[in-house]
Amino acid sequence: MVARPPVAVVIERMTVDDLDAVHSIEQDAFSTPWPSHAYRQELESNRMAHYIVARWGDEIVGFAGMWLLVDEAHVTTFATRGTWRRRGIGERLLLAMLDLARVRGAREATLEVRPSNTAARRLYEKYGFRNAGVRSRYYSDNHEDALIMTTEPLDGREMRVRLITLREALARRPEIEVGPDGRPIGQPREPDGSNREGSGAGAAGSTAASSIPGPGDPSIIRPSRVTRKTL
Ligand SMILES: CC(C)(COP(=O)(O)OP(=O)(O)OC[C@H]1O[C@@H](n2cnc3c(N)ncnc32)[C@H](O)[C@@H]1OP(=O)(O)O)[C@@H](O)C(=O)NCCC(=O)NCCS
Repeated sequence: MVARPPVAVVIERMTVDDLDAVHSIEQDAFSTPWPSHAYRQELESNRMAHYIVARWGDEIVGFAGMWLLVDEAHVTTFATRGTWRRRGIGERLLLAMLDLARVRGAREATLEVRPSNTAARRLYEKYGFRNAGVRSRYYSDNHEDALIMTTEPLDGREMRVRLITLREALARRPEIEVGPDGRPIGQPREPDGSNREGSGAGAAGSTAASSIPGPGDPSIIRPSRVTRKTL
């Protein structure tokens, strides 16, 4: 198979032109996907919302979003296209969001995640999120609890050192090579971080994104997940 020349993955602000691709990733990644119009409303009407995409050439390979609420950044959604997982896309997206949150004056970042979502939890732990509580029966599809995870202060020494170290490690990773079929070539990383040959893609199972209450139109997020913070 002849590989296309490696192209760097770029993180950019999400626009309405990206919504078809975002929707297809969303449907694949979540058991209760947001409708496309929810993202459109977020982009067009929610001044607290910040959404980004990871782009390889013309292709959207992942996306993430957060709300910046006074001094807190709340991650609302996050996904990498299935065939692109375990190649550092999630890390690039999370790093970009944490950078933006800090620049915009957020003191900490927080989110909800399913306890069963090992891939997402490992990613968040790697980036300094720690368990901060539980929302009982938070997810509407199976009534699974949500773990609340929160970072140390974003401008504190621990987080700054962590992010510098992780940023440097990401910069050292080789660019992703893609075959003529548009799929990445080579083995994704194993859950322990190695690149052993052999086993499968290691993609996370279908999971749900977190959501938070909005000050205005609550229909911009999935209503079953609207909940006040009760830390
Ligand atoms: C969670 C998700 C966004 C991770 O994206 P990704 O692009 O595969 O992540 P990365 O390749 O950047 O992985 C970074 C780290 O995440 C963790 N991780 C990712 N996938 C993992 C897996 N299958 N098992 C264990 N750890 C995993 C590891 O700590 C990894 O670091 P390492 O490579 O040094 O081991 C992706 O699995 C996904 O889209 N899942 C479905 C949607 C979802 O659950 N979103 C989160 C909702 S809260």
